[in-house]
Amino acid sequence: MNIILLGPPGAGKGTQAKRMIEKYGIPQISTGDMLRAAVQAGTELGLEAKKYMDAGQLVPDEVVIGLVKERIQQDDCKNGYMLDGFPRNVSQAETLDKMLSELGQKIDHVVCIEVPEDELIKRLTGRRTCKQCGAGYHVVFDPPKQDGVCDKCGGELYQRDDDNEETVKSRLKVYKEQTEPLIAYYEKQGKLRRIDGVGSIDEIFNRIVAVLG
Ligand code: AP5
Ligand code: MG
Repeated sequence: MNIILLGPPGAGKGTQAKRMIEKYGIPQISTGDMLRAAVQAGTELGLEAKKYMDAGQLVPDEVVIGLVKERIQQDDCKNGYMLDGFPRNVSQAETLDKMLSELGQKIDHVVCIEVPEDELIKRLTGRRTCKQCGAGYHVVFDPPKQDGVCDKCGGELYQRDDDNEETVKSRLKVYKEQTEPLIAYYEKQGKLRRIDGVGSIDEIFNRIVAVLG
């Protein structure tokens, strides 16, 4: 099963993807995580991407498309995968459709997680992530047992560089202008599955499972 997780910054794409990995036995492919790993590693691609990410803008299409094309052909993607944060504009979606048809694959479901803007801002400004294993937390909504320490691996929790109020505003604007048109794009293909993203993390997971089976 090939799935796209669509939704604004802070909607819970990464949070739900982590649970879906276990349920469906397919990997999460997060272009945001891949780009952050490249920034961390200090590669040329990472240095280039960081300028856009810090400004809350999209990284150029050819960069992310290259990453996804390589990743979906790896062994662990044989039974399917979840694309988290890709595609992010109509041009990326069209390229993905072309790429998949060349590989004899297709997208089965586009899970669109819907959350109002005031809630997104609260979620993003309180987010914390484990440096070591990537587990996600929220200082109020999903706190770790011990402040600043990952429950799962004991790693140090950090706040993402782009989770400050100014960059969050710009990310939300970019979502509205460039990513939201994908809702109509996938609705037309009959693949859109709308999920109400307000509620507890468990409730939302159950809604997704109810739709995907
Ligand atoms: P990316 O990393 O994809 O960020 P994003 O889309 O802005 O989404 P987030 O990761 O911020 O949100 P999420 O939906 O995963 O929320 P989460 O589950 O963590 O992209 C970052 C940047 O990389 C982009 O700005 C761009 O520059 C670049 N980029 C990436 N992909 C690209 C592409 N395809 N093309 C071009 N550029 C690209 O949850 C958020 C918080 O809320 C957490 O603290 C969590 O604990 C909490 N939470 C989750 N669910 C709930 C709930 N139900 N109730 C209460 N709190 C909750
Ligand atoms: Mg994410």
